[in-house]
Amino acid sequence: MRYQDLKFDYSTKFLVTGGAGFIGSNLCEAILNLGCQVRCLDDFSTGKEENVKPFLENSRYEFIKGDIKNLDICLEACKDVDYVLHQAAWGSVPRSIEMPLFYCANNITGTLNMLEACKENRVKKFVYASSSSVYGDEPHLPKKEGVEGNRLSPYAVTKFCDEEWAKQYTLHYNLPTIGLRYFNVFGRRQDPNGAYAAVIPKFIKQLLSGESPVINGNGKQSRDFTYIENVIEANLKACLSSSEADGQVFNIAYGGREYLNDIYWNISKALNLNIEPIYGPERKGDIKHSNADISKARKFLGYEPEWDFKRGIEAAIEWYKENL
Ligand SMILES: NC(=O)c1ccc[n+]([C@@H]2O[C@H](COP(=O)([O-])OP(=O)(O)OC[C@H]3O[C@@H](n4cnc5c(N)ncnc54)[C@H](O)[C@@H]3O)[C@@H](O)[C@H]2O)c1
Repeated sequence: MRYQDLKFDYSTKFLVTGGAGFIGSNLCEAILNLGCQVRCLDDFSTGKEENVKPFLENSRYEFIKGDIKNLDICLEACKDVDYVLHQAAWGSVPRSIEMPLFYCANNITGTLNMLEACKENRVKKFVYASSSSVYGDEPHLPKKEGVEGNRLSPYAVTKFCDEEWAKQYTLHYNLPTIGLRYFNVFGRRQDPNGAYAAVIPKFIKQLLSGESPVINGNGKQSRDFTYIENVIEANLKACLSSSEADGQVFNIAYGGREYLNDIYWNISKALNLNIEPIYGPERKGDIKHSNADISKARKFLGYEPEWDFKRGIEAAIEWYKENL
């Protein structure tokens, strides 16, 4: 079933943390399109006001500027909420290696505050963003839940700890939690700027401005790049999943495998450009290959991703052409 056809009562209230960011703002928009109510909690640490602005006039949208490191703010934000889609965190593997203490406070303590606030407010489901980085150095493909290796970065450790804490809240406090292990999400509103930007928006922006993008390593690394629409579907279906899924984690991807060099040249071709990339050093903490087995999410969440990489990258390129 398409997520647009899911049946939520119009009085249903969602809280999206990190709703000024890439994934969170897309979730807010999808919820408003379903006719439901949404509250967004964000401190604008990496998110942007322009991602919030289009919704501020909508009476079903509420914005709270606040930090999830503050438990009182989390408690306030969770009042009268049915479902929480917890996206607030700092991403980026290299940045996490530079600032481990901040990542621990922001991504782990912040999530723990949200779990506590959801427990106190008897939220129906706590759906939270985990990451494919938890698989670490486990070499087998496709990645399957339950077969993880050693984490390769502080960022991956924070996401793994979040999963463990969420399980405790399901086990001891009856809070239904669902962890979504996103695999390299891309699409409209993903930030193309800065040293820690994700590759797809960065390549598109640099190519459109005539610059030569840098590919870290030899470009032969592969990823299961996942279009934003599939991630929205997973979040909304997770809210309605049966209690069998509670306390568990699920791979959220398309189930494909794209090589960085191919992506680069596909984007160049779509933009009618022929600019050679610059090959830079490999990045510390990066995983070589990543490709997801999504059968568990199909089975427990009814997840049926509709957007393959090709369709997603075409839509993303069109969006950046109009919005950069
Ligand atoms: N984008 C991906 O490919 C990807 C892959 C795996 C996991 N994830 C996870 O998905 C989530 C969303 O990622 P994104 O790509 O949209 O990132 P993003 O940086 O665009 O959004 C994160 C948002 O969280 C907010 N935030 C951060 N710390 C906060 C705090 N302490 N209090 C309140 N708000 C705070 C930021 O201001 C930002 O708006 C994150 O948890 C990220 O780790 C993303």
